Amino acid sequence: MWDILLTDCRTATMDSTGVIGDAAIGIAAGRIVFVGSRADLPSGDIARAVHRLGGAWVLPGFVDCHTHLVYAGNRDRERQMRAGGMSYEDIARAGGGIMSTVRETRAADEDTLADVAVERARAMAREGVTTIEIKSGYGLNLDCELKMLRAAARVGDRVPMRICRTLLGAHAVPPEFAGNRDGYVRFVCEGMIPAVAREQLAEAVDVFCEAIAFMPEETERIFSAAKAHGLKVKLHADQRSDMGGGALAARHCALSADHLEHLSEAGVAAMAEAGTVAVLLPYAYHHLGDTHLPPIEALRRARVPVAIATDCNPGTSPMHSPLLLKEVAEGVFGLTPHEALAGMTINAARALGLEAETGSLRVGKSADLAVWDVADPAVLAPKNGHLISRVFRGRMDGDLS
Ligand code: NIG
Ligand code: FE
Repeated sequence: MWDILLTDCRTATMDSTGVIGDAAIGIAAGRIVFVGSRADLPSGDIARAVHRLGGAWVLPGFVDCHTHLVYAGNRDRERQMRAGGMSYEDIARAGGGIMSTVRETRAADEDTLADVAVERARAMAREGVTTIEIKSGYGLNLDCELKMLRAAARVGDRVPMRICRTLLGAHAVPPEFAGNRDGYVRFVCEGMIPAVAREQLAEAVDVFCEAIAFMPEETERIFSAAKAHGLKVKLHADQRSDMGGGALAARHCALSADHLEHLSEAGVAAMAEAGTVAVLLPYAYHHLGDTHLPPIEALRRARVPVAIATDCNPGTSPMHSPLLLKEVAEGVFGLTPHEALAGMTINAARALGLEAETGSLRVGKSADLAVWDVADPAVLAPKNGHLISRVFRGRMDGDLS
């Protein structure tokens, strides 16, 4: 006997099955056991709870595959600085930017960090998110990086969501290592990565590869250390300039290369060849007033899987709304509604190495789904995205009376 049967609904499975007009979905022990036409349901009493959804749409739960959800403080004053003509780089070099969030995050205790992150995660859950990736990177010393990763784990204890954690010790060179970048890179490789691997505090390691952050050679050293400790890698790549980041990520079989505004043609080809997911972060582009679009048409032509993510962080993307993300991905990056939805579901799951577990509605996967009262998922947007219910691993929250 199944636990839940959802019926009288429409579904976009986000895999090869596509759209099913008169659909039914069966859930047992937290897994999807049936997705198909209502006409193909087995007969008889098959589920303990039956929900008739009156034609609502069922979609996979959203996956936000790139966030900096754990941080203290805010960077609102940087808006003014940018309006006055300073660039993201100018602000960083003047001691603002990432370092200003580092100061506030170091000063906050783990409970406070968990509390603010839980609030953000709850808002995401209310918009259909069932999986989030959370990076460290505002600690830049061992204690504070570990504190951030522990706070990130606590989000998963308090909000029904799958949390994937990423060590981003190489986000910026902290003041303690000013003039000694090499020493800091060594510390990330020999201090942070082994500690995080030993305590199983993250599944992956990320690097901000950029002129104001870490060079390609430094990135390579950090990736080698990550892999030696059994951690996956991913990259903040080619955001502000072409650093060859996309190709570097591909060479290291990274899960994803993210941002990519300045990704070169060679980078597109290397990512296509390696199957590296391109994670686009359109709200960060929009918030920074950037004008150099990522090579979206080239990514399409080369069939690179494209995901989109909020990049929730206080400096470049102070928001945590998947529906706003979808709107900006379409309006500013020109993605089609289907590309945006695939980018928030199956391709985002791929970017976390979770495509066998979540991101589409398929028998055997975790029952992570969202029920939307909307005429067509293409029009899901902040103004008309009405979430009726969210199911995570077969557990429902929301009103399915
Ligand atoms: O993804 N680019 C680097 N990291 C973040 C921004 C971090 C910050 O400015 O606090 C990003 O945009
Ligand atoms: Fe980021």
